[in-house]
Amino acid sequence: MEQELNSLRDTALNELSAIDNKEALNDLKIKYLGKKGLLTGMLRGLGALTPEERPRIGQVVNEIRNEIEDIIASKLGAMKQAELSRKLASETIDVTLPGRLAELGHLHPLTLTLNRIKDTFMRLGFEIAEGPEVEKDYYNFEALNLPQDHPARDMQDSFYITKEFLLRTHTSPVQVRTLQSAEPNQPIRIIAPGKVYRRDYDATHSPMFQQVEGLVVDKNISFADLKGTLELFLKETFGNRVNVRFRPSFFPFTEPSAEVDISCVMCDGKGCRVCSGTGWLEILGSGMVHPRVLEMSSFDPEQVSGFAFGMGVERIAMLTYGIDDLRLFFDNDMRFLRQF
Ligand code: PHE
Repeated sequence: MEQELNSLRDTALNELSAIDNKEALNDLKIKYLGKKGLLTGMLRGLGALTPEERPRIGQVVNEIRNEIEDIIASKLGAMKQAELSRKLASETIDVTLPGRLAELGHLHPLTLTLNRIKDTFMRLGFEIAEGPEVEKDYYNFEALNLPQDHPARDMQDSFYITKEFLLRTHTSPVQVRTLQSAEPNQPIRIIAPGKVYRRDYDATHSPMFQQVEGLVVDKNISFADLKGTLELFLKETFGNRVNVRFRPSFFPFTEPSAEVDISCVMCDGKGCRVCSGTGWLEILGSGMVHPRVLEMSSFDPEQVSGFAFGMGVERIAMLTYGIDDLRLFFDNDMRFLRQF
């Protein structure tokens, strides 16, 4: 028996020395030390021995068992260590590499322009009002003194949705909505920024563009207030050097009406391609609120008066940044947008 045990030990140690992976190690453990393993089988054979031999042989079996277990444990330890070193070598992090920059976006040039416009008027005490882009014919035309067959409606070839609803052609309907939701004859001082829609498309016209409407109503509001406010706004926006000119014009909802020009920012008023040689750039429409518009919205033109204006945000942005094609604003070309 002792003979057998010794040769079993030798074979086991031999096999063990050749093993280089965990699976084989586990198989070997089962083969010798498992419930049906070879060494465990030897223990069962003890019964056939004499009582004197039994403890001695039993001890030898235990020694072999311990020896095999120790070797397995140390091999397993070495394998784990090797695996860890391999991982550390292949997954090293170079902490000296520069980090990955998160690409931060920024505001669109039209948003920047609109923010500056809002800023100026908010400092003058204006509040911001808004209205829907899908608007009733009534607010877009009718209540602005543009009745059904008024020829001035042709100036704004519009997108109708039904007979009653259209995409608003200007922000002026917000004037009416503001008047009608206010207490009659109480002071109003608002600007109304927003998108408007017209059937136009070329280098300076897009079917969708943005306007900022202004409306001031109070006792004793005069044309001087209109002039002072717009002059301040335009100098704030284009610099103190620009000259401002008021030109008689016509809008059905203002009387008198004025087109407001600034001296050309490209040539300082000398005359160039941008201002078609005139030295002036048309920048906004304005006028004193027509008494009929006040009346239709329950304000009394005998007690209060007001002025209104409307400007195109894209046009102001184009002049501010020197951009000659309005469509660039809507193309989403990063090479263009990154410059602002
Ligand atoms: N709504 C006019 C337009 O779009 C501009 C305007 C607004 C004119 C307010 C006078 C007063 O052309």
